[in-house]
Amino acid sequence: MDPLTDCDRIADALAADGLIILEAALPEGLRIRLASRIETLEPDLKRAGIGRNQDHHLSDAVRTDRTAWLGPDDPAEAAYLHWMEELRLGLNQRLFLGLFDYEAHFAVYQPGAFYRRHLDAFQGSRNRVVTTVCYLNGHWGPEDGGELMIYPPRGDRPLESVLPTPGTLVVFLSDRFPHEVLPARRQRHSIAGWFRLKSGGDRRIDPPR
Ligand code: OGA
Ligand code: MN
Repeated sequence: MDPLTDCDRIADALAADGLIILEAALPEGLRIRLASRIETLEPDLKRAGIGRNQDHHLSDAVRTDRTAWLGPDDPAEAAYLHWMEELRLGLNQRLFLGLFDYEAHFAVYQPGAFYRRHLDAFQGSRNRVVTTVCYLNGHWGPEDGGELMIYPPRGDRPLESVLPTPGTLVVFLSDRFPHEVLPARRQRHSIAGWFRLKSGGDRRIDPPR
């Protein structure tokens, strides 16, 4: 994260609109390393679930992507987490959000896979404050589909339709914007992540690992 430009732009946009889309934000070298990492992990990815803890279940009606959490052991994953750590510190400095940590998963959407309209902050928990989504595919055109549709807090007319073009980074307030992933015609690779507040007395992790 370029400390003086990207962080400022993201902080200003979050304060003003709650949402920003930055094209080609992820450095290309890191995008390529992460794209090859996700190919390596592909066979072991797990069907993503919805809800947390007792509630956690798989639902073909809601989402059909497969995911794997990022960790510090793989160098490419560590570099991405470091990039996001700079953003976390930058946002805390500029907006006093008190963001405490960050968790992120790779997601692979096979052709036809989707994630229906949802909010990332679970009801009854203000744990997830800021969502980030970053795209790892190479060239991606409108004919490939797989748009991230972002809706206003109330209403059905989309605010944004985001094509998952190489290195595009989307950042938004997790409890404000319902969003959905439309089916793609090619395999679609992303990293979705969340900056979280320190969870109070409850030690729930959303969603369970
Ligand atoms: C999510 C999500 C969006 C995307 O994983 O919660 O909304 O474009 N992902 O991959
Ligand atoms: Mn989401």
